[in-house]
This record gives sequence, C-alpha cells and structure tokens, in this order.
Amino acid sequence: ERILMLNGPNLNRLGKREPEIYGTDTLESIENKLISIAEKQGFALIARQSNHEGELIEALHDAEDQHFKGVVFNPAAYTHTSIALRDAVASISVPVVEVHLSNIHAREPFRHQSMIAAEAIGQIAGFGVYGYEMALNALIKHTKGNDH
Ligand code: DQA
Repeated sequence: ERILMLNGPNLNRLGKREPEIYGTDTLESIENKLISIAEKQGFALIARQSNHEGELIEALHDAEDQHFKGVVFNPAAYTHTSIALRDAVASISVPVVEVHLSNIHAREPFRHQSMIAAEAIGQIAGFGVYGYEMALNALIKHTKGNDH
C-alpha cells in the first residue's frame, strides 16, 4: 500500500532556503525519514517534488489512478493562490493532509489563507519537519478508519 508525499515549489531548496523559517534539514533527508516511518507501519512512501503547478496537479491525479492510500501534501506558495490545485484535491477521493513547516497563520497576511485546506482532511502547520510525521501518522490512522 502506497502513500504519496508531495512537495511544491522551492521545497527542493530546503536546507539552504531561509533556514531561520524552514530549518536546516534537506528535502531528501525529510523524505528518507518519512520513508522509514511509513515502512515500519507497512506502507511504501513515494516522494515527489515539483516547482510546476501542472505537475503537482498530475501527481494528485496519478495518486488516485494508481490507488494510493493518501497524500501528505505541502503545496508551498501555491497553497495561497491555486484554485487549480484545490480543484485537483477535490477531484480525487484519495485523502490529502496539508502540511506546512512554518505556522502560516502567524506570518504575512497573504499566507493566512489556504485554498487547499477545505478540501483536505486536515492541516498541520508550524511544527517543522515533525509536521510531516504527524501528517503521515494522521493519514495512516485515517486509512485504518480510526479518525474523527
Ligand atoms: C510553506 C509556507 C508557504 O507560505 C511558503 O510559500 C512555502 C513553504 C511551509 O512549509 O511553511 O513555500 O508551505
């Protein structure tokens, strides 16, 4: 059973990108951490990253077509702008958990709104890399029917 971890624009630069906001871990190290946590719970985690809105949309469609169990999704700046990504999340029945390293609600006003949140099963923001772990665990619990 597979879970997709999907990261949006500029997250390929984690580690050197504004480390005071986003921390010093690289995306690769976060992906590897999530892969091993998923594996211990019997899931194969597939990690994808793109700086292109259309590729992120297609990755969500693929998750549905390839029968993934869920998506851990950090849409990065597209969170705040992309109706197309929101519609993509709405267009699939695969559950999506939205994650942000930083607390978007405590930052600039333009980051307070998420286009995605209403179509996700939940949003986690402000806990750094640990937020990805929380999102993964929440998703696994959800797929086992233990949520709500
Ligand atoms: C982010 C928050 C977004 O506002 C920002 O554009 C990002 C990263 C986060 O993980 O904190 O690129 O999604």
